[in-house]
Amino acid sequence: MSPEAFGSAVVAWYAQHGRKDLPWQQDTSPYRVWVSEIMLQQTQVSTVLDYFARFMHALPNVQALAAAPLDEVLHLWTGLGYYTRARNLHKTAQLICTTYAGEFPRSAEILASLPGIGPSTAGAIASLSMGLRAPILDGNVKRVLARYSAETSYPGASQATKRLWQLAEQLTPQHNVAHYTQAMMDLGATLCTRKQPNCTDCPVQSGCLAFANGQQHVLPVPRPRKELPVRRVAMLLLANQDNAILLSQRPSEGLWGGLWSLPELNDIHSLAPLLQRYQLNSQQQQRLTPLRHTFSHFHLDIEPWLIRVQGAPAFGVAESNTLWYNLLNPPRLGLAAPVKELLQRAFMQLQQEI
Ligand code: ADE
Repeated sequence: MSPEAFGSAVVAWYAQHGRKDLPWQQDTSPYRVWVSEIMLQQTQVSTVLDYFARFMHALPNVQALAAAPLDEVLHLWTGLGYYTRARNLHKTAQLICTTYAGEFPRSAEILASLPGIGPSTAGAIASLSMGLRAPILDGNVKRVLARYSAETSYPGASQATKRLWQLAEQLTPQHNVAHYTQAMMDLGATLCTRKQPNCTDCPVQSGCLAFANGQQHVLPVPRPRKELPVRRVAMLLLANQDNAILLSQRPSEGLWGGLWSLPELNDIHSLAPLLQRYQLNSQQQQRLTPLRHTFSHFHLDIEPWLIRVQGAPAFGVAESNTLWYNLLNPPRLGLAAPVKELLQRAFMQLQQEI
């Protein structure tokens, strides 16, 4: 599909299926489109409708907005959230009045230099309200183009975003840009949805690489999981003469709060003072296979040590937060998952030796 064919197909689809009844599509002006686009950045159309009407009634043009006290603007914004948007709106209105003689600059690039206006919002204002040939790449359009070009990287990754902007630039037609821009937004919102895209009704299906490859359900690929930091810890399976393992209860706050766990050391070389604290003598130390446990915010790399000890004092649960966990007759305790796994391993190991 050539860029011209793409543009024509999208504009033709708009004539039949696009939205034409939105308030900012009546009496269209840069001011009205700008305010609507800022409101729509983090808020659904259905919510924006009332706020937009009240805002326009109170502050019908950029001069009124610039002259209003910030409190008035924030008051009109109350309930929309993300109040930085309102502050930037106010700031930009004042800039337009002072620096640009009260006229919106007729350039997406200059618009994008104003507070609160990113490149895609700038493109939307320029194309929707001025008919300038300016591409947009909001979340919906990103998804449409990522599928259309079968972009296999996460669209938010910088190289992929660059490619998608280039494609958006190439595909934006010379004429009917306002309808084209609105159509691309509507296409993303109604047909090329994140889940269950309706490819049957899509005007650009014949050029879509994701559709051709049957990849429309797996593209765009989700944000990659962030690389998690790694913490290392030695966990001690201190086994007494009865093959019971020493456990202690963790504080109720924090990681594994209230669960029973193994004594931990940052460094196995500080084993001696720990044994001393429990009045234990070490007989034999054996390093077991390492284990990784992944929390939401880090990996815990566990180095387990099975250590035979003697001289074990008896602990009661009540008197201290420490007990001997009998592997043959295990008490019902809350155990962290890797601790449970390590106790099983220790059990197998000790069984073999009996
Ligand atoms: N979301 C952002 N801009 C929009 C627009 N012009 N129409 C509908 N939804 C939108």
